[in-house]
Amino acid sequence: MEKIVINGSNPLKGEVEISGAKNAVVAILPATILAQDVCRIENIPDISDVTMMIKILSQLGAQIKMINRSTLEIDTRGINSFIVPHELTKHLRASYYFLGALLGRYSRAKVSMPGGCCFGVRPIDLHLRGFELLGSKISIDNAMINASADKLVGSAIYMDNVSVGATVNVMLAAVKAKGLTVIENAAREPHIVDLANFLNSMGADVRGAGTDVIKIRGVDKLHGCTYSIIPDQIEAGTYMVAAAATKGDVLIKNVIPKHLESITKKLIDCGVEVEEFDEAVRVRCDKRPEKCNIKTMPHPGFPTDMQPQMTVLLALADGTSIVSESVWDNRFKYIDQLIRMGANISVEGKVAIVQGVEALKGAPVGADDLRAGAAMLIAGFAAQGQTVIENLSHIDRGYERFVEKFTALGGDIQRVNFPDEGESEAESAG
Ligand code: UD1
Repeated sequence: MEKIVINGSNPLKGEVEISGAKNAVVAILPATILAQDVCRIENIPDISDVTMMIKILSQLGAQIKMINRSTLEIDTRGINSFIVPHELTKHLRASYYFLGALLGRYSRAKVSMPGGCCFGVRPIDLHLRGFELLGSKISIDNAMINASADKLVGSAIYMDNVSVGATVNVMLAAVKAKGLTVIENAAREPHIVDLANFLNSMGADVRGAGTDVIKIRGVDKLHGCTYSIIPDQIEAGTYMVAAAATKGDVLIKNVIPKHLESITKKLIDCGVEVEEFDEAVRVRCDKRPEKCNIKTMPHPGFPTDMQPQMTVLLALADGTSIVSESVWDNRFKYIDQLIRMGANISVEGKVAIVQGVEALKGAPVGADDLRAGAAMLIAGFAAQGQTVIENLSHIDRGYERFVEKFTALGGDIQRVNFPDEGESEAESAG
């Protein structure tokens, strides 16, 4: 079994380049199906979620050409199936975007339920209700979701909860529906805006993305385009917190500072220095961080996907911080691992009370899910001694070349094969 071995306590220093956004690319790759043409997508991160998405597209009949390490040409003219079986959906949550994309192209889609959940119940009722309002019939048989419509027709759709996934799926299904679709209480994340920009580059008429009302006027036909994925807000935030937690000094390049505002604000509240440039941020810290409270919220609030990483910083802060998780029911599982490293944290329901300690100590820990894995990396770099992290497949789903990137910052990190142990399968979501 492969594990990460980190010898901690080194301040991370230098420059790191952020890759394309995972949560944007996992929506944009299925969206290419709607073009029935050739799309060239740039700034694609080399992560295992992308590998799975490409596998699904290929099995559906798309031709995929690698132009360079981060650019793919995807020809969806030859797609000849609207069925995505369980073997292909079980590893990633975002496989459900094939429902919206195939429904949008064929008015039919049969997609197996997406991969297992890591942080509580992850319902998809809002996705399915959205498809029904567009005129699709839905049935679920043996964990296969079957959506079919004579014709998709635009509709007014109010989301009871702010949901990234449901907003994306309805956008995908609605771009070629007849007439106007209005999504109210839509998610406003940067990746929603990126998807809208991509759809519009293919000839769609999507307005209002980035606000809570998105209007989509259906068009008959879309066409291929060239499009570059936005930088990953959460990868950037992870390196920002890693710099702060190790009392380092890191220039984080290829970012959109506006997307990082909620993270920047909290770091500043902790006494960390953050300097913004046009496409970079520099994070410096030379003292113990101060306590601060965090409540996760949909964008533009503090992202739930940064909650575990930020909790590591607060575990080392001077004073007691309160972390409230308001998006997911069960996103504090990783805290047991931090406690093994000497953190003083208690959890009451969806609230963690974090009493800062002066230092963490290296320990064997696991990456319970993708962002929990990111938190373990940061804790490992900040801790005294050696940390060994297992279940790397979770981290590989969302962090491109992280060993290389942290090594370039002076981190003592290695991927080591421990041959005696069996491989554990990653079934994850994100
Ligand atoms: C996406 C992100 C994930 C992030 C999450 C919240 C991707 C691929 N993943 O996940 O990393 O943690 O946004 O920012 O982009 N809900 C319902 N019914 C539904 C759908 C969602 O009640 O049909 C609820 C969920 O239980 C949750 C909340 O809405 O409490 C937000 O979920 P959602 O925004 O849909 O998350 P994902 O799209 O799955």
